[in-house]
Amino acid sequence: MRVRLCGLFDLPLFGGRLFMDVAGTDYDVIIFKLPGGRLRAWDAHCPHAGALLQPMNEMGGDLVCYLHTWVFDIDTGDCKTVPECPLTGYEVAVEGMDVFVTLPD
Ligand code: FES
Repeated sequence: MRVRLCGLFDLPLFGGRLFMDVAGTDYDVIIFKLPGGRLRAWDAHCPHAGALLQPMNEMGGDLVCYLHTWVFDIDTGDCKTVPECPLTGYEVAVEGMDVFVTLPD
């Protein structure tokens, strides 16, 4: 299902933002604006034990889970700690001034 996540200007110039219960669903999404303005949206729960990932724990293109310090590439979602456990990604699109994500039905 495709839902509006936020307005384009609701995102920080650089870095990420966490959205809880997106569009009245149970999905929590963490979204990052990468250099050049590209957007990446990920399930906000760590694939290890479900900790809620925090955008302020991003450093140099990597996101570190606060609970057991697994490290994820915010561009690809790859897990650098346990490669078999990448982030779950959601398609993200910008239309006009709105940001949309596609969540599982
Ligand atoms: S819950 Fe994230 S590393 Fe363990």
